[in-house]
Amino acid sequence: MDYRLILLIAALILAAWFAWRYVKLRREAGEFANQIRQQRFNTEIKELEHIASAVTSLVSTFNLRHATLDAERARLATVLDQMTDGVLIADAQGIIQFANPAAGKLFQASNPVNHSLAEVIRHHQLIEAWRRCQQTGELQSESVEVPMRHQYLQLIVIPDAHAGGSLLLAQDLTRIRRLETVRRDFISNLSHELRTPLASLKALTETLQDGALDDPPAARKFIDQIQVEVDALSQMVTELLELSRIESGRLVLDLQPASPSDLLFSASKRMQLQAERAGLSLRVECADDLPKVKIDSQRLEQVLVNLIHNAVKFTRSGGEVVLGADIVPAGEAGMGEVRFAVRDSGIGIPLEDVQRIFERFYRVDKSRAGSGTGLGLSIAKHIVEAHGGKIWAESIEGRGSTFYFSIPLV
Ligand SMILES: Nc1ncnc2c1ncn2[C@@H]1O[C@H](COP(=O)(O)OP(=O)(O)OP(=O)(O)O)[C@@H](O)[C@H]1O
Ligand SMILES: [Mg+2]
Repeated sequence: MDYRLILLIAALILAAWFAWRYVKLRREAGEFANQIRQQRFNTEIKELEHIASAVTSLVSTFNLRHATLDAERARLATVLDQMTDGVLIADAQGIIQFANPAAGKLFQASNPVNHSLAEVIRHHQLIEAWRRCQQTGELQSESVEVPMRHQYLQLIVIPDAHAGGSLLLAQDLTRIRRLETVRRDFISNLSHELRTPLASLKALTETLQDGALDDPPAARKFIDQIQVEVDALSQMVTELLELSRIESGRLVLDLQPASPSDLLFSASKRMQLQAERAGLSLRVECADDLPKVKIDSQRLEQVLVNLIHNAVKFTRSGGEVVLGADIVPAGEAGMGEVRFAVRDSGIGIPLEDVQRIFERFYRVDKSRAGSGTGLGLSIAKHIVEAHGGKIWAESIEGRGSTFYFSIPLV
């Protein structure tokens, strides 16, 4: 064989072998690269999955916190809305950023937000308290009377260290103040009322001790007077006890259906003798077919007796006292009511006193003959109001008075 042909064949075989090796290596390298890529891809997917689950858990934690915060905010808003104390939040310049409904009501401002404290509070002492709080950074408290609004207010200003503003709490102390005044007046009235009969008793007994005892006719007169004073004292004590029982909410009504005319006749019967002695005519003018009302008859009879007793006391001999009752139909007075009336032809009550006679101890003219303690009408008022009714008087001085009280028909 030709030497060159052999060489060519050998070279070709070698080239084919190299080519085959090259292709194999390329394939292996490609497969290897693919494997590596696949691995990296898998790892990346895993990492992404981790990140995704972390983000999901973060979102759900965030949602949970958000919901908790929303619930807390709603609860706080309800508390602030329902509070009877006014709450204002003002910035460092005194511009209101938040006000609850009570604050608007207390300061009679429809929409206090974005207005200045001075515009809303309108009281120099209260504004001064806020200014002091801004200057000193310390809590300030101020109580003032606002005569224009018939209010007694307390304002507490609390500094807000973060925002430089302040939180203002306003309390309406009007009711508490009024109660304090009523209690103070009550005690001073009571001691005054007790002093008069006690002083008379002391004087009468001293006169008896100083020799009047040896003069039987005079002694009898003094003893009669002592009896009058003791009666007045015991009447006062009974009324006070009654009033305190009623006012402390211990008045328990025994409600039973009763006929209005029966009630009037029963009260009139009890007072007939007293009226006759005073030279007055006492009569009942009432239809007897009026519907029954659910009342505590004993208590309402006491109201009528108090009113008749007054009518007798404040009507001159020869006058008259008339008791009556009628129906005020539903619509005009809500659900309909029975209206009782005690009319007299007595001395009457001045216009400026008519509103006040139902107050404890209030008497029109303390020097008036026959005046008592001034508790009878306030007791009557309590009893009528406990029945869900109301009591009032109409009077013309010198001509007479009519006392009305109404009891709802249920
Ligand atoms: N019918 C009346 N006519 C004129 N004034 C009246 C009449 N009823 C009440 N008043 C006035 O109202 C005041 C208050 O009446 P109220 O019944 O509360 O007290 P009082 O009769 O003086 O004492 P008390 O009833 O405690 O014995 C009376 O003192 C009187 O001045
Ligand atoms: Mg009276």
